Amino acid sequence: MKVVTTIREVREQVNAWRQADNSIGLVPTMGFLHEGHQSLMQAAKQDNQKVIVTIFVNPIQFGPSEDLASYPRDLERDKIACEQVGVDLIFCPDASEMYSPNFNSYVDVNELTEALCGKRRPGHFKGVCTVVTKLFNIAQPDRAYFGQKDAQQLAVIKRMVTDLNFNIEIIGCPIVRESDGLAKSSRNSYLSESERVAAVCLYQAIECAKAMIYKGEKSVNVITQAMQELISKQPLAKVDYIEFVDLATLKSVDLLAQDSLCALAVYIGKTRLIDNFIYQHD
Ligand code: PAJ
Repeated sequence: MKVVTTIREVREQVNAWRQADNSIGLVPTMGFLHEGHQSLMQAAKQDNQKVIVTIFVNPIQFGPSEDLASYPRDLERDKIACEQVGVDLIFCPDASEMYSPNFNSYVDVNELTEALCGKRRPGHFKGVCTVVTKLFNIAQPDRAYFGQKDAQQLAVIKRMVTDLNFNIEIIGCPIVRESDGLAKSSRNSYLSESERVAAVCLYQAIECAKAMIYKGEKSVNVITQAMQELISKQPLAKVDYIEFVDLATLKSVDLLAQDSLCALAVYIGKTRLIDNFIYQHD
């Protein structure tokens, strides 16, 4: 496994692989890797001859009051996590390699980015789309892998790839969870012991919603209220939002329908966690 920090080195490797007719899978990450990230690498490994993982805490997707400075980092551990899965190349640039002082071009997807997390994190998806575009141009993959954990991010990237004609297949991968149901996240490392226990309320709210839906409940209002109540029993938790939206448009729905996405963001202490599920009836 190679570890490189410059765009030139990635291009050299990618050119060599392309000349040998190798397909390339890309897994963009911000590091502090866990089994969720590794599941994307495994999927990439299955579908492609070569796998590139990028590790870059992208400054332009963080708001001024967000956790850019404290975002967890551990490159040595990340290398081991990538090696375990058989990754071929890690690209871990400095911010200066990605953003020159004159940098002034952005990719901005409209509408889908105004819902859910976009409402609370202005500019976030513009930062995500811009860095992902750059990584696509640098690595020129056949396929790129994103987690369903960040459902809105996945929807936005799919829109961007369609709208801007990137010749890249976007593969969405299922949410990987801890044994108590908490979705794995690099940000879980911020949680104290008591917060970690409290954090399971996101998953419990999802399970509660699924049970109500199973029994036939269709009113989004009724389901959301029950989820809200369940979470409010947890003193360390504060709901940012719980919403049901159409998976394609991310517009709110009042009645549950095929392909409704239920997404929630909850503060556990100071840490903001997200989770979701998609209603698909069989
Ligand atoms: P990061 O939060 O590191 O996540 C990288 C990828 O791993 C994303 O596609 C995310 O959805 C996926 N992922 C995270 N936790 C997961 C879990 N529990 N199960 C399955 N997949 C999971 O998302 C980003 O980084 C950045 O915004 C990025 C796309 C790299 C752009 O900077």
